[in-house]
Amino acid sequence: MTVSPNSVPNAFADLLQRIDRVIDAALPAADTDPARLHQAMRYACRGGKRLRALLTYAAGAVLGAEPAQLDAPACALELIHAYSLVHDDLPAMDDDDLRRGQPTVHKAYDEATAILVGDALLTLAFRVLTQPNPATSAAAQLRMIALLAEAAGSLGMVGGQAVDIESEQQKIPLARLESLHARKTGALICCGLEMASAAANATPEQAQALSEFGRLLGLAYQIQDDVLDESSSTAVLGKTQGKDRAQEKSTYPSLLGFDAAKTLAAQTFAQARAALALFGERAQPLLQLADTIEHRDH
Ligand code: IPE
Ligand code: IPE
Ligand code: MG
Ligand code: MG
Ligand code: MG
Repeated sequence: MTVSPNSVPNAFADLLQRIDRVIDAALPAADTDPARLHQAMRYACRGGKRLRALLTYAAGAVLGAEPAQLDAPACALELIHAYSLVHDDLPAMDDDDLRRGQPTVHKAYDEATAILVGDALLTLAFRVLTQPNPATSAAAQLRMIALLAEAAGSLGMVGGQAVDIESEQQKIPLARLESLHARKTGALICCGLEMASAAANATPEQAQALSEFGRLLGLAYQIQDDVLDESSSTAVLGKTQGKDRAQEKSTYPSLLGFDAAKTLAAQTFAQARAALALFGERAQPLLQLADTIEHRDH
């Protein structure tokens, strides 16, 4: 089974093709030595809804920037996201066999390759951000590197993953769960919005509004991921349904109950939209994406 990219509106179809081209160009050719590693890196980057990239492009559009200014941050973010999924699926982490409708990297290849694929995608992401680009100043590039390093590291995604693992088979307080989700998933999503602000020279007020939108949207995204893990199917998700219960993960449905988790996700999406008030009509691309994300089925 292959998961269709998503049900993203037509307005984003060009950007979906664009990000695939940019990622393809960033990755070494599949026959580059060591070929098995490079094939596996490409395999890990296939599929996926590319919502983090689309959010980055959409934030740029809201700020009046051209897509060329957002290619590098959008690509870097998807590379780091893909690495995080490869490692998340490893036997020592969530031990998953299916990802994006295909065998996980350690199943299609082997565990050592999956670890190295993650390492290589992580470092490649920073290489992409340093690529000279006439559309982006060196100062903006440096700022994006700092933002991504913080969001991806132990104070962001990796830290959230550590708390996720240590919170298995435990009932943690709601505030701890929120902080876990904000880090493991929210940090990278928010980072796309913040890198767009850096690339497009946003005013402090604009940057603040986009960060707040990203923070809330990122949290809503993971609450919804928890909800879908319970309510969807393996065929639709392209990953094993019911894994969270099976592994006794700390999730919003496990802590609050399914209905309350769904309600909270909807409220958090609404709060995210409200954070864009400053932009008025110009917020449309981001509002449209927020709708798409809220109504996703996988
Ligand atoms: C899955 O993210 C893992 C989370 C952080 C929730 P996505 O649902 O965005 O995964 P892809 O990239 O579309 O496969
Ligand atoms: C994954 O959270 C978060 C990261 C990969 C950083 P999950 O473990 O819930 O993601 P899925 O459900 O496997 O996609
Ligand atoms: Mg996980
Ligand atoms: Mg997982
Ligand atoms: Mg999940």
